[in-house]
Amino acid sequence: MRRAIFPGSFDPLTNGHLDVIERAAPLFDEIIVAVLNNPDKNPMFTVEERVAMIQEILQSIKHNGCKLTVDSFSGLTAEFAKARMATAIVRGIRAVSDYEYELRMALMNRKLEPEIETVFFMADEEYSYVSSTLMKQVFLLGGRVDGLIPDLVEAKMQAKLAETA
Ligand code: PNS
Repeated sequence: MRRAIFPGSFDPLTNGHLDVIERAAPLFDEIIVAVLNNPDKNPMFTVEERVAMIQEILQSIKHNGCKLTVDSFSGLTAEFAKARMATAIVRGIRAVSDYEYELRMALMNRKLEPEIETVFFMADEEYSYVSSTLMKQVFLLGGRVDGLIPDLVEAKMQAKLAETA
C-alpha cells in the first residue's frame, strides 16, 4: 500500500494544488490531502470549510485509481504522516524560490521521521505564480482569478465576501 500525505494550508485550494495531486495520483494508492489546523494564522476559510471544499472538488479530478481523501491535522506533519502509515510526503515546487523553504522542511521532516520520504512534483508552468495568498489578494481587490482556482473555490470566496460586506 503506497500511501502519501499532501500537507498544506490550502486557504484556499488552487489549480496549482490540483495539478500536483493529479501528477502524484498515478504513483500512489492513496493520497491524504492534509489540511493544517494552524490557529496562529488568520485564514479566510475555517479548516472544516476547507476540508469540505476539497472533498467536493476531488470528486471531479483525474485520480488514476488512486484513493483521494481529505483530513485535517494539528502539530507536526511528520507525526501525522507516521500516524496514518504514510511513506511519503507530497509537496509541489513552482519555482526556484520555493526550493530553500521546501528543502529545509523536507530535511527536518526526514530528521523527525527517517522512514518517510518527501517527494516533489513540479506544477505546470501555467501555475508557477499561483499561490493561495496571491489568489486571495487579487480576488479581494476585484481582480480576475478564473482558471487559477477551482470554480467552487471562487464561488465560496464570493460568498465569504458577501458575508463580510
Ligand atoms: O501550504 P503551506 O502553507 O506552504 O504548507 C506548509 C506546511 C503545512 C506543510 C508546514 O507549515 C507544516 O508542515 N506545518 C506543520 C508543522 C511542522 O510539521 N513543522 C515542521 C516541518 S519543517
